[in-house]
Amino acid sequence: MLGFRNAPKDVADLYREIPKLMPRKLSLTAAAFGAACVAAIGVASATEVEPKLDDKVSLRKEMMHLTGASMGVMARIAKGEAEFDAGAVQGALRTMHAVSLGFADQFPEGSETAESEAGPKIWSDAAGFEAAVAKFIADTGAAVKLAPADAEGMKQAMGMVGANCKACHTDYRVKKD
Ligand code: HEC
Repeated sequence: MLGFRNAPKDVADLYREIPKLMPRKLSLTAAAFGAACVAAIGVASATEVEPKLDDKVSLRKEMMHLTGASMGVMARIAKGEAEFDAGAVQGALRTMHAVSLGFADQFPEGSETAESEAGPKIWSDAAGFEAAVAKFIADTGAAVKLAPADAEGMKQAMGMVGANCKACHTDYRVKKD
């Protein structure tokens, strides 16, 4: 899989870092509004299952759940349902960037399970999947660097990041409803 120079040594460490990246306000907002926003922007509903740090399927689903919640926080602001908050927006962007850095390591061979929506192309087209993750890393990194100072800047950051969701899901996620 990809060798990330800046990636944490252990993805369990990465996962433990994520809540610290999310400001308290963002976690609260995500908890209160995440499910509705996530549904509104057309991604799977949020789960409330505790992630298991030693289980890569559980971990990667939680990483994506956090990604969806992060987009949900920004979607609410974009729709005028919440005030722009630079700290919450930066927390959302940093959360997605942290997820992007560790994501490719969560797909060992044979981890296509009944609970997982990981598509078979992740393994049959590993180079394509790694390229999609590399783009997600680059775009979330650029969005973090942008550090939006107002809702307009945030929409620009959402544009940079948002195209990745559909692109990767189309090829590498098989929805099971
Ligand atoms: C590089 C590929 C890739 C990118 C980019 C990506 N996803 Fe995903 N996403 C996946 C895969 C693969 C799954 C299925 C994981 C599984 O079930 O094992 C998934 C699952 C999900 C889920 C369901 C999680 C759950 O609880 O089961 C949500 C929500 C989600 N993605 C949101 C997003 C959003 C929002 C973005 C963009 C900001 C995004 N994803 C970008 C590959 C990606």
